[in-house]
Amino acid sequence: MTIDYHHRTALYRNAAVAGLAGLLLCTSNAWAASSSNQDAAAPHLAVTSSDFDKTPDGQQVEKYHLTNRNGMSVDIITFGARVQSIDLPDKNGNVADIALGADKVKPYIDNEGTYFGAIIGRYGNRIAGGQFKLDGKTYDLPKNNGPNTLHGGPKSWDQKVWAAHQLDTGNAVGVELTHFSPDGQNGFPGNMAVTVRYTLDNDNDLRIHYSAVSDQDTVINLTNHTYFNLAGAGNGNILNQVAMINADKFTPVDKTLIPTGKLQPVAGTPMDFTTPTPIGKRIKDDNTQLKRAEPKQGGYDFNWVLNSKGDLAKLAARVSDPKSGRMVEMYTTEPGVQFYTSNFLDGTFPGTDGNKYAHWGGFTLEAQHYPDSPNQPSFPTTELKAGQKYSQTTIYKFLPE
Ligand code: BGC
Repeated sequence: MTIDYHHRTALYRNAAVAGLAGLLLCTSNAWAASSSNQDAAAPHLAVTSSDFDKTPDGQQVEKYHLTNRNGMSVDIITFGARVQSIDLPDKNGNVADIALGADKVKPYIDNEGTYFGAIIGRYGNRIAGGQFKLDGKTYDLPKNNGPNTLHGGPKSWDQKVWAAHQLDTGNAVGVELTHFSPDGQNGFPGNMAVTVRYTLDNDNDLRIHYSAVSDQDTVINLTNHTYFNLAGAGNGNILNQVAMINADKFTPVDKTLIPTGKLQPVAGTPMDFTTPTPIGKRIKDDNTQLKRAEPKQGGYDFNWVLNSKGDLAKLAARVSDPKSGRMVEMYTTEPGVQFYTSNFLDGTFPGTDGNKYAHWGGFTLEAQHYPDSPNQPSFPTTELKAGQKYSQTTIYKFLPE
């Protein structure tokens, strides 16, 4: 089904009225309530917006700058609803940008496959053979990763300019971004309205809340694709940074990085991060899985089955940099996390402030459902029924505060 602009706008409005508006109403009540005890507790929380750049076809891309009282700041750009930078002090108060990104839109377009900082939709991670069945119908998706579809297929949500506005409640500041994805976009069924809200508070919590609604049964798996380097983006690799992933199992993959369907215990393998371990300690081990992720030198690019099981109060993962004292913790409503060590970075991406991003120059913690869930009946479902509300929350908590 193709739809014209007016129909689309009306649909977005209807979808918003039917689903998202309800959501937003619940949360805006909470926002209103929380704004009563503002300024004394939060003197330096602020959000501002400015022009970032233009896309080659002339669309304006805005940047939202979120700051807190701890000297932390986060920049979000409307191209791909991306985290463009995260400035975080170290234990001595020295600030560095710990998120890999670019100063202009062009590098994000020219290097689409890096997905730096982006919101990934409609389906984060891989769908085997670019195909899935839903309600007895087969859907074909464009393949952009060998035989598979990765991160929603080519020119997906990470390449769109999102609508945005500021949020400020006194206890948190942020930006809310919305996007409309028409029925059949990259082969996925259903007109879909999506809202992503980033907020920053004085506990150094960067909270990402996702919500979406579709007018047909469909599949969905949203995530954020920020690459962190706690020593500072462009400051070498992340091999000495220490990871803990609260997971006893992971989903091993075939040669094209599609899960075999098994949940394999991490015990006795280089995937065991149940106790904090330097990322580089076993990355070059002679291990088939590591070599599937990065055939030459090895790398991590797997989904871990989180013990936190979608409980936002339980720690899902933590990475720290002993040298700078910087740390990121992740909490999420999702059942899995893709821990990826930027195995294909090679120093050629024109990074922020002239930085070059080395091989293993960053890691991602992509909170998500398991890869290829639409084709894997034993995995938690990623189906979204028509009119049903999709909701996902992930918190990245940064230290030192
Ligand atoms: C995937 C990697 C991919 C990377 C960048 C990650 O989420 O798991 O295989 O190379 O994104 O596209």
